[in-house]
Amino acid sequence: MWVLIWAALLLSLTERTTCNKQPQTPPPTTASPWTITFSPAEITAEKGLCAVISCTFSHAENFNPTAAIWFKCPENGKCDQDENVIIHSETPSKAQEGYKQRVSLLETDLTKKNCSVIINNIRKNDAGEYQFGLLSAYTYSKKVKITVRALTQKPSVLTPPLTEGEPATLTCTAPGICSGTPPNITWTWRGTGDNITELRDNTTIQKREDLTSVTTSHFSTLTFTPPQLSTTT
Ligand SMILES: *[C@@H]1O[C@H](CO)[C@@H](O)[C@H](O)[C@H]1NC(C)=O
Ligand SMILES: *[C@@H]1O[C@H](CO)[C@@H](O)[C@H](O)[C@H]1NC(C)=O
Ligand SMILES: *[C@@H]1O[C@H](CO)[C@@H](O)[C@H](O)[C@H]1NC(C)=O
Ligand SMILES: *[C@@H]1O[C@H](CO)[C@@H](O)[C@H](O)[C@H]1NC(C)=O
Repeated sequence: MWVLIWAALLLSLTERTTCNKQPQTPPPTTASPWTITFSPAEITAEKGLCAVISCTFSHAENFNPTAAIWFKCPENGKCDQDENVIIHSETPSKAQEGYKQRVSLLETDLTKKNCSVIINNIRKNDAGEYQFGLLSAYTYSKKVKITVRALTQKPSVLTPPLTEGEPATLTCTAPGICSGTPPNITWTWRGTGDNITELRDNTTIQKREDLTSVTTSHFSTLTFTPPQLSTTT
């Protein structure tokens, strides 16, 4: 009798456990406070332009982030190693030579939990995976991938109607919004002949920066007076 009761008790216990387990998928693990989100999760960048990794993170409540670190992952092996640092917000000299001048955080206030980063003057070997970490605390395991392709974006040229002998202002804006090296914009004039003349006078190269000077668009204006006689096109 006693054995029977035990058996019944065990059975009901087992049943309850199996019943309880059913609706709880995934199993009740406490969610990690350390999360990172990339939007988008993959980035395609063009050579010579810039890439922006847009990213937010969360961390344990009792932790105060002091510095942000981005790593470029090698093909094989661990990512969060000193030799893979591309930006270190506390000790900038720790970044690899090839990245030092090219990488900036979009948001330097870590309490904003914004890990977005911009890489300027994209090169072929910037393709690969990147990982974010907080100094002496945590490296987020999720990685973000950058693919690099050839430059396809074209400059845009704004041309008003041109009239012989009347000055006009033309504007050429380079593609991309990078704060990297300014582009080389040249204006040339070809009349009816085959001669191509470079116009250096009356051109200005300017840039438009956002408040943080992280994004910059470069443009050149030309004040040009189309020559009279039959040389206009
Ligand atoms: C991160 O910060 C930058 C610069 O302040 C801002 O432009 C961007 O929208 C922020 N991203 C998110 C996801 O909040
Ligand atoms: C810009 O282009 C002009 C004309 O082709 C050239 O003389 C000059 O060296 C170029 N400058 C740079 C920085 O590439
Ligand atoms: C083109 O250039 C050549 C050599 O500089 C010059 O002799 C010729 O007159 C030019 N032609 C025109 C149409 O400007
Ligand atoms: C340069 O600009 C000045 C004044 O805007 C104008 O008089 C001159 O003709 C321009 N030069 C050229 C080569 O267009």
